[in-house]
Amino acid sequence: MTSDPELLSADNVKRFDDAAADWEEKPQRVALARKVAEAIQRAIPLASTMQVLEYGCGTGLVSRALSPHFATILAVDTSPQMLEVLRQKARDEKIGNIETLAHDLTRQPLPNNNFDLVMSSMTLHHIPDVEALLTQFFAALKPGGYLTVADLLTEDGSFHDDNSGVAHYGINPEEIRAILAKNGGLDIAVQEIHTIEKQQGNGAKRGYPVFLAWCRKGK
Ligand SMILES: C[S@@+](CC[C@H](N)C(=O)[O-])C[C@H]1O[C@@H](n2cnc3c(N)ncnc32)[C@H](O)[C@@H]1O
Repeated sequence: MTSDPELLSADNVKRFDDAAADWEEKPQRVALARKVAEAIQRAIPLASTMQVLEYGCGTGLVSRALSPHFATILAVDTSPQMLEVLRQKARDEKIGNIETLAHDLTRQPLPNNNFDLVMSSMTLHHIPDVEALLTQFFAALKPGGYLTVADLLTEDGSFHDDNSGVAHYGINPEEIRAILAKNGGLDIAVQEIHTIEKQQGNGAKRGYPVFLAWCRKGK
């Protein structure tokens, strides 16, 4: 696990740039994103007028799945190669309402803070100061807008084969709940939505549960 934010950031850009081309080759990533998209559909009243931000979008698995339900999606990530794959796949899939932006919200706010929904999946555990990032998510939302975050539940460090770009071994959803409440979040809810099955060194399978937390920003 890495704690220095500078090292972590540079490490993560390189790591995810290198992983981008083959990101969707792992079926469990595609399956997880589908579960996250389905859980967001159940949790939030989606509307075709919505302007959406996905933060830490990677190749856009969640954004691409949900794009027919929204007006526009701004897909933000620090890895230019992830965003390149997203643009290519969106072109192939004839998706016309996703824009991409290479940006680090942990360093600078976004120019547009007018979103109806901010969503983020499997990114928080790469961010040293989760509370600061969630506070930025609230700042990016319109009053009454929705926030959804999905991540691994706290684990023992065995999920990633290499933990160098990892800031947290999973996330305690009760800490997320407390941060959402501190930011004035309404109707806060947390649900386990999926379990990622991974093979261990000894060949045995092990499950890593994933949660979705969501809330609405006060008016
Ligand atoms: C585990 S991947 C998840 C990607 C995608 N959400 C998915 O579910 O397939 C984490 C993503 O977060 C991005 N990331 C890491 N640190 C970031 C930061 N500080 N700001 C924005 N994105 C970041 C990485 O580039 C990567 O695309």
